[in-house]
Amino acid sequence: MLPDAELIFGDSPKCDVPTCLRRIIAKYGTDATQLLQILREVQECAGYISPDTAAYLAQKLDIPIARIESVASFYSFLHLEPQGEYRVLFSDNITDRMLGSQTLMERMCQQMWLQPGKVSEDGLVSINTTSCTGMCDQGPAMLVNGRAITRLTPQRIQEIGQLIRNRTPLAAWPADFFHVDDNIQRGGLVLGNTLSYGAALRNGLALGGAAIVEQIKDSGLRGRGGAGYPTGMKWEACRNAQGDHHYVVCNADEGEPGTFKDRVLLTRQADLVFEGMTLCALAVGAKRGILYLRGEYRYLLEPLKAALQRRRSSNLLGQSILGHPGFDFDIEIHLGAGAYICGEESALIESLEGKRGVPRNRPPFPVTHGYLQQPTALDNVETFCQAALAIHMGADKYSAIGTAKSTGSKLISVSGDCPRPGIYEYPFGVSVQEILNDCGAVNTRAVQISGPSGVCIGEKEFDRKLGFEDLPTAGAFMVFDDSRDMFEVARNFVHFFAHESCGFCTPCRVGTSMLKQTMDKIASGHGTHYDLAEVEHLDHVLQTTSHCGLGRTACNPVLHTLKHFRPAYENRLKSLEFKPAFDLDGALARARQMTGRDDAGAHLKESE
Ligand SMILES: Cc1cc2nc3c(=O)[nH]c(=O)nc-3n(C[C@H](O)[C@H](O)[C@H](O)COP(=O)(O)O)c2cc1C
Ligand code: SF4
Repeated sequence: MLPDAELIFGDSPKCDVPTCLRRIIAKYGTDATQLLQILREVQECAGYISPDTAAYLAQKLDIPIARIESVASFYSFLHLEPQGEYRVLFSDNITDRMLGSQTLMERMCQQMWLQPGKVSEDGLVSINTTSCTGMCDQGPAMLVNGRAITRLTPQRIQEIGQLIRNRTPLAAWPADFFHVDDNIQRGGLVLGNTLSYGAALRNGLALGGAAIVEQIKDSGLRGRGGAGYPTGMKWEACRNAQGDHHYVVCNADEGEPGTFKDRVLLTRQADLVFEGMTLCALAVGAKRGILYLRGEYRYLLEPLKAALQRRRSSNLLGQSILGHPGFDFDIEIHLGAGAYICGEESALIESLEGKRGVPRNRPPFPVTHGYLQQPTALDNVETFCQAALAIHMGADKYSAIGTAKSTGSKLISVSGDCPRPGIYEYPFGVSVQEILNDCGAVNTRAVQISGPSGVCIGEKEFDRKLGFEDLPTAGAFMVFDDSRDMFEVARNFVHFFAHESCGFCTPCRVGTSMLKQTMDKIASGHGTHYDLAEVEHLDHVLQTTSHCGLGRTACNPVLHTLKHFRPAYENRLKSLEFKPAFDLDGALARARQMTGRDDAGAHLKESE
């Protein structure tokens, strides 16, 4: 093992890196499943993971350096090369763009004399884009060294540039820069609940584990993370699974562009989330729970830890919870590091184990072989809230809310072209038009339901209803008015998928990239009908051969916008015939220049 004195680390403006490394290792121990948490903290301290750091950690954790490099290169918030002392990332969701994020980023690059993706020569600053930061109701947004700043304006950009130039520590920046609004526009069952801490848990303890599962099954509760799997069946399967330990995991990765309801639940209803997790632990027999918090919500870490501590002090977590011997359960928080795919449950579990977030083969499912190959009940943040309320109210009362196949309420994250973006809670069965009326949207051309992987609907379908019978949704509701170009919306979404594909399986890795190139080709005026037909073919390949949901849904944005807004594509098509993406005649320009020829014979004909 290298003595610490032999370590040579990059200059850090804030910390003494060897001291920080010793502190981090002392905190997490030498358990390789903690690798992602360790790398995150090293990144926060040193600004990047240097070769010396990687070698040091490899020795300490007794793993190959290649594993450290492979994990670090997977997550977009971890870096193996030095980054700017101030790392600025503009949120690049379509709703940020609609609010002017691209112009603001160009402005800041000019101000700092910097190109996007580059580090300034003095190492002071780097500027780039990142996928949706979950602040769509208050964009344009950015992250500076992982801290979210919302409602960007040219003036704010100017001020931020000045603060960076002056090397002002983030802690001394105006506090209101970092203020994140909850924007609750319409409360309901969850957001309006007045439950006292532990009330649902007391009901659960009176029922016992098996009866909790029955109640959840009878309540008709289905997962709120997107797939809509019946929660009671999941908990039952986990309870019945054989294993040394059972685990409860809360999915707070919330990476789907346009979704931000879990952010608000974790801010306003953290106790309800933890209460739901604790009830789940009682039902499945778990002693340990983990909340996987997306890196973009780093600012919520301390408040959430404080909420956990309060619950421990009130004996709602820890040993013999509420005086029941043998009912021991506690919750810890793991932070993600900028990878949308880690929202997929098996990728999330891999990430929790300190690995690259690559989805696993399923079956076996997490309920039998989840975290550390043990039975794991993994649910979305909102699902745990709904479960706690279902146990508190009783299955009959809960299932009376909503519709027959979609019981309870749903939180909707409204963003885009409307005067009142924010969080709206409705019983399931609400129509798209009702939500548009409530948020004040007018002249609406389209609504994207459930993010890029969901569906895009046009005006004729606004009477459709949210629920598993008609329009299932994880919660995103992006509004586009008649000034919007739906081709550009779809192009933004396919760029997102190409960027976020984990690259594990070839059809998705290559297919999402081809899709992106096709959309760029059409945008540059070189598209043909042949390209549009190719998208349908590509969709078939991705649907049938992709390893996980990302690949299977990647073509949706194009197919749905083609269905409703075909002219947005056709107006851009150059000809009906095949046209290669590569401009061969353009490439010969240099040769023409060198030979002094520019006559017709020195050009390729269109048909050539
Ligand atoms: C690419 C991809 C991303 C996902 N992202 C999330 C997410 O951010 N949050 C979430 O709860 N579920 C997400 N899911 C769904 C999860 O895999 C899983 O179904 C869900 O967390 C289960 O919880 P639930 O039953 O409470 O819905 C994602 C799925 C896929 C395929
Ligand atoms: S479909 Fe895409 S995201 Fe999913 S495993 Fe394959 S490459 Fe990764």
